[in-house]
Amino acid sequence: MKPVQLKSNAFWVGAIDWDLRNFHGYLTQRGTTYNSYLLIDDKVTLIDTVKSNYYDDMMSRISAIISPEEIDYVICNHVEMDHSGALPRLMEHIPNAEIITSRNGQKGLMEHYNADWKIRTINGTEKISTGNMTLNFIPTPMVHWPDNMVVYMEEEKILFSNDAFGQHIATSERFDDEYHLDIMTEEARKYFANIVLPYSEQVKNTLEMLDNIDIEIIAPSHGIIWRSNVPHIIDNYRQWSGNLTRKKTLVIYDTMWKSTEIMAKEIASVFLTRGYEVRLLNLQTNHISDIMTELIEAEYICIGSPTLNNNMLPTVSAFLTYMKGLAPRNRKGLAFGSYGWGGQGVDHVHDNLTSCGYEMLTPFKVKYIPSRDEINDMKKKLIAALE
Ligand code: FEO
Repeated sequence: MKPVQLKSNAFWVGAIDWDLRNFHGYLTQRGTTYNSYLLIDDKVTLIDTVKSNYYDDMMSRISAIISPEEIDYVICNHVEMDHSGALPRLMEHIPNAEIITSRNGQKGLMEHYNADWKIRTINGTEKISTGNMTLNFIPTPMVHWPDNMVVYMEEEKILFSNDAFGQHIATSERFDDEYHLDIMTEEARKYFANIVLPYSEQVKNTLEMLDNIDIEIIAPSHGIIWRSNVPHIIDNYRQWSGNLTRKKTLVIYDTMWKSTEIMAKEIASVFLTRGYEVRLLNLQTNHISDIMTELIEAEYICIGSPTLNNNMLPTVSAFLTYMKGLAPRNRKGLAFGSYGWGGQGVDHVHDNLTSCGYEMLTPFKVKYIPSRDEINDMKKKLIAALE
């Protein structure tokens, strides 16, 4: 297991998880990495650890550079167990090392591991010298837990950004100029849409702080390291965290006997003729985390469900629950669907989208199979609503 050098005194010593496909409900079709970084100075510092079952990989990479007993500081930027899982075993091995974490990090570590570790807490922005290098600690609470912070290594201009700017990609390549920028950007967008989106305001604050820092390398906790496209990913984060939409519509649906699907296709065709970029997304064939990636820039969210036992189909309900948790703002919504007798499914979709604060169009309901006249009437009304 070889480490990878970022700068003369900074190394990637993390682990590659080629097999991960589910990260708390997020489809990680390309796997991921857990990035841990080793800084060599008078005081030797490890930034974050890895998921517990990758402890040996991390230790093997550290051991290729120094003896792990030489580590003085272990920085815990984030307590979530994909970054702190290997910490208990590591601290058994180096009990005299000092953990540096935020105040919430200290609380979180105790609540997770209840261990008797030497912990130094960071309160607000703070600097620590490791000899020839200066580490700046910048709290970034809620990007993505209350404990999050990032570390900026002044002399080498490296930002260890933890969850921010990450992507779930397992690769042998460690740097953006060695991989495909389009895939990295898409996976970073997916990561933002499924992990960071609820905390867009905190991201905006973080980006403002970073405006005053000269960054050569962004070393996130997941995926590939940014060194040749730093302005590119920062610009993208600015766009995504601004909840900015463009002329794009998602038509998301599930269907029982194809009637709601017929409506979905006709609704999509109206938006197409009005010049919208359209995505027709059947919940049977699209993962909810991929739909969120598409949703991040969409102006209209149209959701269709037939009525099943006075309710929406469970797939539609699951998507709405997931989407509401991620809280995309400033959108326009439309509910539609066919029904047999009650028709409450469409009402539930409408109520859910309304509760998100979206500007809603009048819902469309059709009994059993939509007739040509009903379809034409629906399209005429939709065209009028989009005028
Ligand atoms: Fe990669 Fe919020 O943990």
